[in-house]
Amino acid sequence: MHIAFIAATAALGGLLFGYDTGVISGALLFLRTAFHLSPLMLGVVTSVALGGAAFGAAFAGRLADRFGRRPILLVTSMIFVAGAAVSALAPELAALLAGRLLVGVGIGGASMLTPLYLAEIAPARERGALVSFNQLAVTLGILGSYLIGYALASAGAWRWMLGLGGVPGIVLAIGMLFLPETPRWLAGHGRTTQARAALLQLRGHGVDIEAEMALLRDDLTPKAQVRPESHLGHAAARLPMIVGIGLAIFQQVTGINTVIYFAPTIFQAAGLSSASAAILATAGIGVINVIMTMVAIWLVDRLGRRALLLSGLGGMGISLCLLAAGFLLGTGPARGYLTAASLAAYIGCFAIGLGPVFWLLISEIFPMAIRARGMSAATIANWLANLVVALTFLDLADLMGHAGVFLLYAALTFAGLVFAYVLVPETKGLSLEAVQALWARRAKGEPHPAVRHTAAMP
Ligand code: BGC
Repeated sequence: MHIAFIAATAALGGLLFGYDTGVISGALLFLRTAFHLSPLMLGVVTSVALGGAAFGAAFAGRLADRFGRRPILLVTSMIFVAGAAVSALAPELAALLAGRLLVGVGIGGASMLTPLYLAEIAPARERGALVSFNQLAVTLGILGSYLIGYALASAGAWRWMLGLGGVPGIVLAIGMLFLPETPRWLAGHGRTTQARAALLQLRGHGVDIEAEMALLRDDLTPKAQVRPESHLGHAAARLPMIVGIGLAIFQQVTGINTVIYFAPTIFQAAGLSSASAAILATAGIGVINVIMTMVAIWLVDRLGRRALLLSGLGGMGISLCLLAAGFLLGTGPARGYLTAASLAAYIGCFAIGLGPVFWLLISEIFPMAIRARGMSAATIANWLANLVVALTFLDLADLMGHAGVFLLYAALTFAGLVFAYVLVPETKGLSLEAVQALWARRAKGEPHPAVRHTAAMP
């Protein structure tokens, strides 16, 4: 099996995540009437999945350490399929909420397990691109959900909107039956012979895998797990935890999902009066998100993570200031154009930087002994921050005006830029084990990983 095929199958986990992120805004319009939902209950239907995702992420890391990346990704996709089916068939509100909770648990697990799996199977020089397949799938899922939502809206077919998300879930579950376990997890548990077989399957028979085999570590064995550095609170884990959780929070509090969830509302507030113009503009946002993620995949192993992250954050900050300026302009077509252009620039800058690079970095920066648990922590932070932003955006816009709230996100984006500039290391071309060594040198007081660049490893 070719590695790109394996990666594309595993990346279906991202498709679940993206589809559900996008579909709910379209479906809500119909759920409101079907279940006589108050504004408060509409918020609950949306946020129960985000809370469920934080919950799913909390368990996925430990379970994936114990039972393997592959089986837990498989279970996660089955939970998602069950949740999609329950939501689609829900006869009453309680069943709908239960379905949404299950969907959330599934997405939360998949959102961290997919990049984890991809990072652990990828060769170092292509890891950035292969892990970012996940984010590409997220953006395709969002775009697909907009298009499906649009196509099904006239028939009011909300049950189909919610149920169709189950299809990639079923494909992922079947695919995971055939995909290999990661060589790193196998070696982590001391199963060297199986790790060698998995590596040969991934790299192709006849390829010399000895250099890569020599790097693998047995950090998940019970003997290794009692070492002090296997604890999340240990000094060696502190810096990667700060970077992972910090980036997770910045990825959300810089406002991305206000655009993904509320783009039509923002366009209408900016003067695009007809609903169909607003929906079309939203689909345009979805397309830019996909295209710029492809550009990121092309660049991430060439220019490196820092270049994309820092330039993306800078661009997002400037676009948010322009967006705020658009809202201050008063009314008229100029305001509509400025809003559309600055939102397009904002989403493009997110898609080239913080979008893919956050998920990539959290799959790379943690030492093997705590990788899955560290990713869990960062992913929980990401979903909780997502929930806080989703719950506060409309009220903040009422309170401070749209210009005020986008300026707030701009300030947070510039804070994120400083954070990333100071703390994020360059991991391009390094094996995961070499990244681990980078932190160990840092803990000993050697130069900051952000300013050093170590020679490439296999
Ligand atoms: C974020 C999501 C967001 C999506 C947009 C992901 O990286 O984690 O919250 O909806 O990108 O493309």
